[in-house]
Amino acid sequence: MRIVLFAGKGGVGKTSIAAASGVACAKKGLATLIMSLDAAHSLVDSFDLDKTLMDKNKGKPIRVAKNLSIQEVDAQEEIAKNWGEVHKYISSLLNISGIDEVLAEELAILPGMEEVSSLLYINRYVAQKRYDVILLDCAPTGESIRFISIPTSLEWYMKKLFDIERRIVKVARPVTKKLYAVPLPEDAYFDTIQRLFDRLEGIDRIMSDPEITSVRLITNPEKIILKETQRAYMYFSLYKMCVDAVIINRIFPEAVEDGYFARWKETQDRYIKKTEELFKPIPILKVPMLSDQVVGMRDLAKLAQEIYGGFDPEQIIYAETPYTFRKVKEDYFLDIKIPFLTKKEVELSKRNEELIVRIGGFKRHVLLPRNIATRKPSGAKIEHNKIVIKFGGSHGS
Ligand SMILES: Nc1ncnc2c1ncn2[C@@H]1O[C@H](COP(=O)(O)OP(=O)(O)OP(=O)(O)O)[C@@H](O)[C@H]1O
Ligand SMILES: [Mg+2]
Repeated sequence: MRIVLFAGKGGVGKTSIAAASGVACAKKGLATLIMSLDAAHSLVDSFDLDKTLMDKNKGKPIRVAKNLSIQEVDAQEEIAKNWGEVHKYISSLLNISGIDEVLAEELAILPGMEEVSSLLYINRYVAQKRYDVILLDCAPTGESIRFISIPTSLEWYMKKLFDIERRIVKVARPVTKKLYAVPLPEDAYFDTIQRLFDRLEGIDRIMSDPEITSVRLITNPEKIILKETQRAYMYFSLYKMCVDAVIINRIFPEAVEDGYFARWKETQDRYIKKTEELFKPIPILKVPMLSDQVVGMRDLAKLAQEIYGGFDPEQIIYAETPYTFRKVKEDYFLDIKIPFLTKKEVELSKRNEELIVRIGGFKRHVLLPRNIATRKPSGAKIEHNKIVIKFGGSHGS
């Protein structure tokens, strides 16, 4: 069983590459599902299918070829099904506070509800062993970060808050019923959340197991896109998900000799080199800009050939997580795994949120999470096969 997420900035080619990878997996005889996590679904368009097909199917998987299904989750449908009581309660609160009923229902779709619906599907498919490969076409970076944060934050909410909330409501309900117009949630509200949580059991382990789940970061050889790719990488590391490849898409091929594109080609060359340097040791796959947009089976198969060449799209290209962020009491630590070391002198420099670590010829760039970026590295030591960097005290002390 394999799960691969295709993530990156808007428009870099996530849907096309996820779809192409699916076509290639299915061709090998693997039972393959491509699932869209982007509310603005475009898988159907990528396969050049009729949109009404999906609408009629109410967001269930549809078969598009031998061994290959695609799924675009229908948010409204899923929210009604999974979040019924929670949605009802929140919209009643909004409605009481004077918001029009239809708008209240719309607003009561909280961030995260859609993502939970997709996670429920994934968890079920894994339990049923229904597919050999599940490929996830992610929303642009910001939203997909919310997606991967849900298993962790849900666990926290359930452990720390949920029981307390439930108990308070039990005690408070008889009193507040008489005093306030605002209703407290009924038991059904809590039951719904409890049921959802039970059905999500284990998803955090699945998503952070590098033997099952990998992230492929899609990027283009351009400054602004590269920056966002670094940021995405940092967040995936933070959530302990393994990035098994960086895919540089839309590289102008050698055959483009038009003078108009000469500068573009120089720029691309520069950022390809930069990407290789920044993401070392993660494998980099390079994909040319094809001669036309990528739409339909034939184009997708061609794109897959360009991405993977001879090797298997479902394989784990890389299973290490080279960076780990930890917090011990008030200090933060960053562990960087290194295969071998001869020198012992660690050189650290930090520019804004970027940390550069140098040991002889070994050099790594790490984009730091916000709460660590405000601190200065206060020491580094080498332990076995890793460098441990400490960020002590707050705000640079
Ligand atoms: N290597 C390529 N060669 C030619 N065209 C490409 C290539 N990769 C992607 N495209 C085209 O670029 C456009 C955007 O690609 P795609 O929809 O896959 O990006 P996306 O990252 O999923 O976008 P969004 O963030 O909007 O979901 C599409 O028209 C697609 O056909
Ligand atoms: Mg897309």
